[in-house]
Amino acid sequence: MSNSAATPQPADPPAPRAAVTLRSLLKSARAGERFACLTCYDATTARWLEAAGIPLLLVGDTAAEMVLGYPSTIHAPLEFMLTITAAVKRGAPRTLVMADMPFLSYQADEAEGVRNAGRFLTEGTADLVKLEVDRSFAPLVQKMARAGIPVVAHIGSRPQQAKLTGGYAASGRNATTALALVEEAHILIDAGATMLLIEACPEEVAATIVAQASVPVIGCGAGRACHGQVVVLHDLLGLSHWQPGFARPEVQLGETLMAAAQGWISRVRSGALGEHPYSMAANESAKFQAALDTEPSAPAAASPRAAQR
Ligand code: KIV
Repeated sequence: MSNSAATPQPADPPAPRAAVTLRSLLKSARAGERFACLTCYDATTARWLEAAGIPLLLVGDTAAEMVLGYPSTIHAPLEFMLTITAAVKRGAPRTLVMADMPFLSYQADEAEGVRNAGRFLTEGTADLVKLEVDRSFAPLVQKMARAGIPVVAHIGSRPQQAKLTGGYAASGRNATTALALVEEAHILIDAGATMLLIEACPEEVAATIVAQASVPVIGCGAGRACHGQVVVLHDLLGLSHWQPGFARPEVQLGETLMAAAQGWISRVRSGALGEHPYSMAANESAKFQAALDTEPSAPAAASPRAAQR
């Protein structure tokens, strides 16, 4: 039985685009073009996001929450992040891929931090790494840049610090902390950061940083002035149970997913599985039947306990 008439078919994928490079992204950002960035944690999703035209993907440590089900990002394992970074790049080879360096992969020791960042470029095949930093990390950013590693300095709210700060909080909400954030941006750019990412700060603070920065600034809840904007993909898809206001869902994929699973449940129950692709040649089928008719019954069926099961 075929139900192909009712089966939704995906549209043909668009023709592959020219690869986005760090140079092309920096150039378009300098020309005032705003760019979208989304988190991504697997190759299949990456393939669709590249087909949609997203120029930059972030393999965020939010994978710890979205993929692994942990309560916070500090649980993202380094080896896991390396593996999924490479998966995302395989799925989206013409997209710039930024890898998030997980908790304690760069904070404990600078040499270890540089080596781990290098692993994201070699094993993870990422194009850039992102680290959550304050001004005290400027020497590390400088060492990474010196080694040839493009670094995105993630400033403002830093989820990897949440245990220390007692939870997630916006930054730069008073004049003193706002000025400190602007100064921090300068220090990290001077240290060699290729881009900045500002998470959760008032719009006028990010706008000041954007106006003064010599590198592109990506915002995550930092307002409209930023060159790029990033949100967690699961928020945009309506897969998370809560999302910040700036990451309003475009679709309710959670509901679509549930409906698809429910459709499968009822197809399994009713036996409407669609066409069965594997068949036996008529002569083999006849031989099979003849053998069943002449063979003694299977030993399992002969056992009274097995028969009860
Ligand atoms: O890990 C992540 O997803 C992030 C974004 C929220 C900026 O760092």
